[in-house]
Amino acid sequence: MIMENKNKFFVTTPIYYPNSNLHIGHAYSTLIADILKRYKKLQGYETFFLTGSDEHGQKIEDTAKSKNIDPKNFVDEIIINFKILWKLLDIDYDHFIRTTDKEHINYVQNNFSILEKKGHIYKGEYEGLYCKFDETFYPQNQVKNNECPECKRKLISLKEESYFLKVNNYKEWIKNELLTTDLLWPKYRTNELINNFVNNLQDLSITRKSITWGIKVKNDNSHIIYVWLDALQNYLSTFTYKNKPWKIEEVWGKNSKTEIIQIVGKEITRFHGIYWPIILNMLDYKNPKILAHGWIVSESGDKMSKSLNNVIDPIKVIKKYGSDVVRFFLIYSIQIGEDGKFSEDNLVNVFNGILVNKYSNLVNRTISMIQKYCEGVVPSQGTNIIKIDKNLDFQLKNLIEKYHENFSNNNLTQALKIAIIYIEELNKFIDTQKPWNINDEKVLATILNYLIKNIWNSAILLSPFLVKATLEIEVIFDKKITSFKDLNFDFKNLNLNSRSNSFLFTKYKK
Ligand code: MSP
Repeated sequence: MIMENKNKFFVTTPIYYPNSNLHIGHAYSTLIADILKRYKKLQGYETFFLTGSDEHGQKIEDTAKSKNIDPKNFVDEIIINFKILWKLLDIDYDHFIRTTDKEHINYVQNNFSILEKKGHIYKGEYEGLYCKFDETFYPQNQVKNNECPECKRKLISLKEESYFLKVNNYKEWIKNELLTTDLLWPKYRTNELINNFVNNLQDLSITRKSITWGIKVKNDNSHIIYVWLDALQNYLSTFTYKNKPWKIEEVWGKNSKTEIIQIVGKEITRFHGIYWPIILNMLDYKNPKILAHGWIVSESGDKMSKSLNNVIDPIKVIKKYGSDVVRFFLIYSIQIGEDGKFSEDNLVNVFNGILVNKYSNLVNRTISMIQKYCEGVVPSQGTNIIKIDKNLDFQLKNLIEKYHENFSNNNLTQALKIAIIYIEELNKFIDTQKPWNINDEKVLATILNYLIKNIWNSAILLSPFLVKATLEIEVIFDKKITSFKDLNFDFKNLNLNSRSNSFLFTKYKK
């Protein structure tokens, strides 16, 4: 038997802080990763999707203490809710990693020794302005009024013995990678990163003596490994767990052909776009592609965040409208890469206006016509579609090309919009052809056969975005969507008599 040697695709989300439940902004990061995985699978890739939780550090320790609970017990509880959310949102991850797992801890400790042996780590003393909440030191030139540039909390002056990572040597290297490769998307974030951080790149303090909840340096137990150095390595340590399909080298090795996309929100590009590639380089690994999305902001334009008390609970929204609607709305109405607002009113409008009026309507009316004119059985094509509509077939093929083009440019929003245009074209085709007035049997058969084939195509294009609707479509067509090779399947003779014509989405009344 010839085994197909499939290309590999590795996609990751940031690992989330389990200091409270996740809001819709976090769900957004994970959703993007899920859609990319589903898309790549349809292209024939072997895929691996990693998400998880970032459980160490001062913030978690303080929150647990304030509730009088041991930090591990505290995070155990919160993690349950993370997993519930991913299930409700139909997130198909392959590994949920926790930085408190023993495999991860061992990996981080060993790598510390490796980096030290390679001469990338030295011991010194740190003095600087530190944000306890974001667990980050900020260079003086980034700070105004002693406030954290991210969360606006007061910074504290900190002086302590610390190990350092020699990143300063990599200033020119990382600048060059950022400017000349596709390390970071969207490209326009590159300059802000270079101006704000790379130009003043200082060696990174990578241990703390002042905290206790974290991974200890093996041979120097009073030092705890800085939470970001701990957390970033989850993307590597996952491949040291039992039963993982690939070895680290196959993914991260300099010669590996595995495509790696890492989803991050724009505020953590500093870590993923600068320190992370440097660490990888120190370990002789290759660069990933970092995809930085914007923020979900409130009506007034503020970042949705717990500390601003303006969060929307995704579980409530999913329970009210269904996961497909939330998945669809987040991608459709927020241009990926940019900030965007989440408004329930807009969600309902998109739901009714697109999913109900365009998609469901197309499917339902086509099925009813087949039931009415063809005894419920999809007819064979009687003539060539070009004789009926000169342009449509060409247009639709073109849309499919554009859809793929947008996916390969990470423009999920535009790819989704193209899938909807595909549906609009089919609706227009029905409106102009008016099958109910056609007497020529061959023409009618061709139109209905063509509609069914293209509804199937649009369902394939939508399948990375819509999970429940895809399952319903698979039942109607009695066929699984597994690959883009399934496009243009001819459904002649398919019996649709048992299909009800209330497919999918029904109008949400406010
Ligand atoms: N633990 C770190 C990541 C370590 S990865 C090695 C962290 N966690 S977080 O829980 O604060 O945030 C995780 C992700 O959620 C980030 O990508 C962040 O951008 C995203 N979001 C948090 N609030 C958001 C919005 N309001 N909108 C969109 N994404 C947001 O950072």
